[in-house]
Amino acid sequence: MVVVVRIFLAGGTGVIGRALVPALRGAGHTVVATTRREDRIDGLRRLGADGVVVDALDPAALTNAVVDAGPDVVINQLTDLSGGSSGANARLRTEGSRNLANAIRAAGVRGVLAQSIAWAYEDGAGPATEDTPLDVEAAPPRSITVEGVMALEQAMSDSAPATILRYGTLYGPGAWYSRTGLHAEAARAGTWTPALAVTSFLHVDDAVAATVAALEWPVGPVNIVDDDPAETLEWAPRFAQAVGGLIEREALVGTHGGRPVSNARARELGWRPRWSSWRDGFAAL
Ligand SMILES: NC(=O)c1ccc[n+]([C@@H]2O[C@H](COP(=O)([O-])OP(=O)(O)OC[C@H]3O[C@@H](n4cnc5c(N)ncnc54)[C@H](OP(=O)(O)O)[C@@H]3O)[C@@H](O)[C@H]2O)c1
Repeated sequence: MVVVVRIFLAGGTGVIGRALVPALRGAGHTVVATTRREDRIDGLRRLGADGVVVDALDPAALTNAVVDAGPDVVINQLTDLSGGSSGANARLRTEGSRNLANAIRAAGVRGVLAQSIAWAYEDGAGPATEDTPLDVEAAPPRSITVEGVMALEQAMSDSAPATILRYGTLYGPGAWYSRTGLHAEAARAGTWTPALAVTSFLHVDDAVAATVAALEWPVGPVNIVDDDPAETLEWAPRFAQAVGGLIEREALVGTHGGRPVSNARARELGWRPRWSSWRDGFAAL
């Protein structure tokens, strides 16, 4: 028997939100989804959600929106990445999460799912699990990301029983790593300079499937990544080739080493990536 859940989706119009609304509806749930833009409400309605215009940086308006929606569960898919500012995104992770946490408490929500990232772990040789400490010693600019993530995860975990979804680097429809995304455009223009690192990828469709499944998962962090962490030297030429671009060896620059990330906990919970490796996923872009 499917239990119908009433969901407040904070961030219904982003790369995950747009794909998540129909998936949640398909699983039988009802969705109230947010945007800051009135002109996106019709699009949300076409996807199957009731849209609400609200800015997460406006605490009173956000509380009113969540209380009015009366959800069982809040799904936080808020990021501020379209403008390319890690500072703006960090502000949303700190202030926006604090506001959303207060709204969740005011509405008496029974559970929370929140988008986080799988690349905030401290350095190390083996695969990072959810028990690996986050990189609290990071220097700027990485510290901006790590501190933002910590604030987000803490605020969500303090607001209600929360499952934290630590997604890998997204690729697929609507993502920067897609045929029309900004990394593809840069690769075709010969201006793409990916950092040397180990990356764990995640197809947008797999992120969505994990998020729907996570409505039944226990509290705590869960890494949602594919099975094939890889070095930039390995994946960047394949991505460039898949999108009709090129990458020169000299364009690969070193900033942070990264490390592999384990998806063992998500697998124990029953999730399997349909795109087990970015190798197949990139080829299908
Ligand atoms: N794990 C990953 O690798 C990862 C995760 C997320 C995104 N990304 C990358 O970042 C790119 C951009 O992300 P995106 O397409 O999801 O767009 P985005 O601009 O990051 O927006 C995501 C969602 O947050 C909402 N939002 C942003 N600021 C808000 C605020 N102050 N108050 C309320 N809502 C707010 C947006 O709504 P409105 O703009 O409609 O108001 C939208 O629904 C993607 O293409 C993807 O490649 C990567």
